[in-house]
Order: sequence, then structure tokens, then C-alpha cells
Amino acid sequence: MTYDFFRGRRLRRTASIRDLVRENAISPNDLMMPYFVAENEDPDFKNPISSMPGQFQLSLKQLEKTVGEAVSNGLKSLILFGIPAQKDPEGSQAYADEGIVQQAVRMLKDKWPELVVATDVCLCEFTSHGHCGLIRDGYVDNDSTIELLAETAISHAKAGADLVAPSDMMDGRVFAIRQGLDQNGFTDIPIMSYAVKYASAFYGPFREAAESTPQFGDRKTYQMDPANSREGMREATADMIEGADMLMVKPAGPYLDIIRSLRDSFDLPIAAYQVSGEYSMIKAAGQNGWVDEQAVVMESLLGIKRAGADLIMTYFTEDVLKQLR
Ligand code: PBG
Repeated sequence: MTYDFFRGRRLRRTASIRDLVRENAISPNDLMMPYFVAENEDPDFKNPISSMPGQFQLSLKQLEKTVGEAVSNGLKSLILFGIPAQKDPEGSQAYADEGIVQQAVRMLKDKWPELVVATDVCLCEFTSHGHCGLIRDGYVDNDSTIELLAETAISHAKAGADLVAPSDMMDGRVFAIRQGLDQNGFTDIPIMSYAVKYASAFYGPFREAAESTPQFGDRKTYQMDPANSREGMREATADMIEGADMLMVKPAGPYLDIIRSLRDSFDLPIAAYQVSGEYSMIKAAGQNGWVDEQAVVMESLLGIKRAGADLIMTYFTEDVLKQLR
């Protein structure tokens, strides 16, 4: 018997041959780290998030310290989430020039001009009711919300943000944000839209981290039904037409098919968000010694890359940067 069957093992025989034929790899250029910055007078404030071991709510000073270490390990980009001292029904700290996110952006861009500083554009961390928009008659009102989202994006751009990322899932928000940015002279600031964002139980730990659990109801009237894939194509198409420069799928791991469909249907860069619940599950299993955490993290990220993501937002970024060094 000679050449009558396929010998796939030839290209797996040594580590060097495997390196030579590897199709995908994770590089620091692919990774965006989310940070939670809290408006807290105490410069030492560094509050562990119990459902996300290894992640913290950070004061401005602690954020500076943490990012400084990450940058020295090769961090290239981050996305900020803010936790304001005061919340109100209108989420006014989301678009305040002295809001915590705006302060953090100014500090980070001042210290590290090269670092890509992205901001999450949403109201939920800033509203007293925890919803991503304004409430009218017990319902999240779309059209008044998108005006405030545009205000929020403009205030982030004014502070120096490199990229704004709307995560609210209101209709027309990319349109409103693009118009707002352009009218204020920010024609060069790109929008990375959370285009295909599901109403996912995997956001559970994040809501502890960002203190943004809705006080009534849920997010199913604006975030997508996990059972749907074609609907994701409609959302992505709408965002592209409205002016999104990058499209994101969220969560990542349970939605690899969606990442692949977007990759095949759109030429815009595709981002994927490995969300808090994905992080916490791997962490918990790793801490219990049930899985090899480092290996599982890398495998989960490779899966997301293989599915077609250009960029991955992951809480494992700092860990992976150390692994890659
Ligand atoms: C805000 C927002 C959420 C996440 C990112 N932006 C929470 C939500 O929609 O409830 C989730 C991120 C994560 O779970 O890591 N709208």
C-alpha cells in the first residue's frame, strides 16, 4: 500500500512543520482589552468583580497603573466602560464632558497617544433604571435615545477617543452617531457598531461589573433573539448603510456561525466580543483545575479567529499578551 490514502500526519510530524502550515494565529494586534473605570475619589480604589476573577472596577489612578503595565506587555487597544458616581433616568453622566469615561479617555490619550482608546457608547451604566435608553410609558424609547447616544459619542470624541462603539441596539443609532460626529468635525472617528448583539445570558457577570442590571424587564425588545441568524444579516446591513466602519458580533463563542456569515457577506472589518460569561466560565474551570486555562483561552480565541474575526475583545487580553511574550 503506497499512495492510496491521505497522510495528513506528514504535516504534523514536527513542531516546526506545524508552525509552517499553521493557518491562524493570535497577535497583540488582534486583541482589545475592556476596562471598567469607576468614578471614585479614592485613588486606591480597585474593586474585584467577584463574578469575573482577575477583573476590577478601577479608579482613574488604578486604571492608569493597570494600563501602564499592560502597555509594557504589548497592549495595543482597549475599550472603556464607565461606572458613574450618580445615575439618573436620563443617564446624563454618559454624555457629560466631565463624565468618568471622558476623564479616562483624556488621561489615557495624554499618557499613551499611540494606544487605541475605544469607548462603549450606551446609556445602561448611567441610567438609574439600568436600561440602554430612555423610558417612556414603561418602554425603551428609540428615537429620543439615539439623540443622546450621538451626544455621548460626540463627548467621547471631544475627549480624544479613537473609536466609538455603540452597544445599545437602538434602531438608527449608527446613523445618528455618524451625523453627530460629522457635524462636530469628527469625520475621521470610526464607528465600530455592536451590529449583531444578542439578548444573552452570557452578559450576567458584566452587569455586576458595570452595575447595569435592568431594574425591570429585560433587554429583549432591543437586543436580538439568540435563535436568529438571518436577522443578524439585516442588522449588519443596516449598520453598514448607516455608516459603520466595523461590525461586531456579540457574544463570540456561541455565535461563531454568525461571525462566519458576516465575514463571508461583508468586506468591513469584523470584531467579536468574547463576553463576561465566556470569560468567567473558562476562569472558573481553570481555577478548579478542571481545564488547562491558558490552553483553553488560546483555543477559544483561535476558534473566533478561524470563524473570521479580525479583532477580538476579550478580558483575557492581558493574560494572552504575557503568554505571547
Ligand atoms: C452595554 C454593554 C453590555 C455588554 C457590553 N456593553 C451589557 C448588556 O448589554 O447588558 C456586555 C459585555 C460582557 O458581558 O462582557 N449595553
